[in-house]
Order: sequence, then structure tokens, then C-alpha cells
Amino acid sequence: MNELAIIGGTGLTDLKGLEITQQHQVNTPYGETSSPIIQGTYSGKSVFFLARHGMQHTIPPHKINYRANIAALKELGVKTVIAIAAVGGIHPEMQSKDLVIPHQLIDYTWSREQTFFSENLNKVTHIDFTHPYCEKLRNQLLTSAKKIGLKVHSKGVYGATQGPRLETIAEINRLEKEGCDIVGMTGMPEAALARELELCYATCAIVANPAAGRSSKEITMAEIEANLKESLENVHKLLAEIILF
Ligand code: HPA
Repeated sequence: MNELAIIGGTGLTDLKGLEITQQHQVNTPYGETSSPIIQGTYSGKSVFFLARHGMQHTIPPHKINYRANIAALKELGVKTVIAIAAVGGIHPEMQSKDLVIPHQLIDYTWSREQTFFSENLNKVTHIDFTHPYCEKLRNQLLTSAKKIGLKVHSKGVYGATQGPRLETIAEINRLEKEGCDIVGMTGMPEAALARELELCYATCAIVANPAAGRSSKEITMAEIEANLKESLENVHKLLAEIILF
């Protein structure tokens, strides 16, 4: 596999078992990355790791410098990115602690720096985003999951909301009607920026809670964190397998 980076989301601010060889503080034209980029060896393979919300989990989804993060990975020679992301489950089969490898997305975010192609252009550029995730990497994730007997949902539509608040029931009903299976706050513009820089990018989403109105209980951070903690075992197994692939 080409130079691989893992972007860790909520619940994954470090990569257990990563033997660190170097830390990179990359200066980008877009400002600072969420955290230094860690380089190391994981399951015998070279990998970069970036904590999307910062090492102390202090950067909310709408304040993440997505452009700096993606530009820095590109600068380090990364070709392939696995993004780990916590989500709410909308589809009745996407239950807490399940893993989903989404194949499509709908962007509901606003007011984020969403492109590298807005200034100093020689010509206007429109990337193809028909398939927002890299199919090759999605298939590698699915094959690896199968190999280790890990149940994952092989498809799903990711609705990217602005946050940082969670959604209302009516908003989730609307997302469902529009075809979303899971909902998260960080999927965009990250996926589009990766495509703009020609990185092969796919997401492994962890269902942290039933989305608003999909259970009778209030959604709490304690519930989200507890579910993520349990599922991270499986995420680690999947990452170890795919890095060996
Ligand atoms: N909505 C949006 N983002 C999320 C959720 C949710 O319910 N859970 C974890 N991230």
C-alpha cells in the first residue's frame, strides 16, 4: 500500500501500538494542522497519524483546519488516507458500536473552508466527486474486515452536518428522507479536499449513538465515549490487518 495516513476522530487521539519514529510540524499555506503528524511503525508498516480534533480533543468539528491537515499529509508524501469518524446511526440496522464503510455522502455543512481551488487560479477547477470515497481503499477495508471475521456495513450514505450541536429529530427525519444512513460532523470538507489533492481516501465510521429520535434516550457524551471505547478494539484490529495487506 502507498504511504498511508490515519486520521483519528473522537475517541482515537492516538494509535495504540504505534512505534513512533518521528513527529512532523508541517507549515502549510493554510495554517496549522490539528496536531503534529506522528510517523511510526504499526504492525510492521510505516504509517502517519493525525488527531483530527487535536491531541487533547479540543478542536470542534467546525473549527478544524481541514485544508491544513490534508495539505500537510500530501506534503509528507501520503497517498492513502483512512479517516476514522464517530457517527450517529440513522438506518435501523446501523446500531451503536457497528462499523460502517460509507460509499456516498451528502454535505450539509456551511461556512467551512472547503476547497484548495479558490485563489490564485490559472483556471477554474471542478473535481469529479461522483464517488466521494476511493473504491480501491473501501474494498481493501472490506476485504480486511472479512478476513478477520469482523462485521462491517459495506455501504452507507454519510450525512455531514455542521455541529457542534447534535441534530433535532426533524433534521434526522429529513436526512433519512434524503437517503442518509449515518450522520457525522467531520466528513466534509475532508473527503473533498483529499480528492482535490488526489489522495485515495475512505472512511471507517463508528456508530457512537442512535441519531436524534432513533432511541427514547437523551444522547450523552458518556454514551458516545463508552460505545467508541468498545468499538475501537475492532477498529485497531481492522487497521492492523489492512496495514499488513
Ligand atoms: N450526529 C452527528 N455527529 C455525531 C453523532 C450524531 O448523532 N454522533 C457522533 N457524531
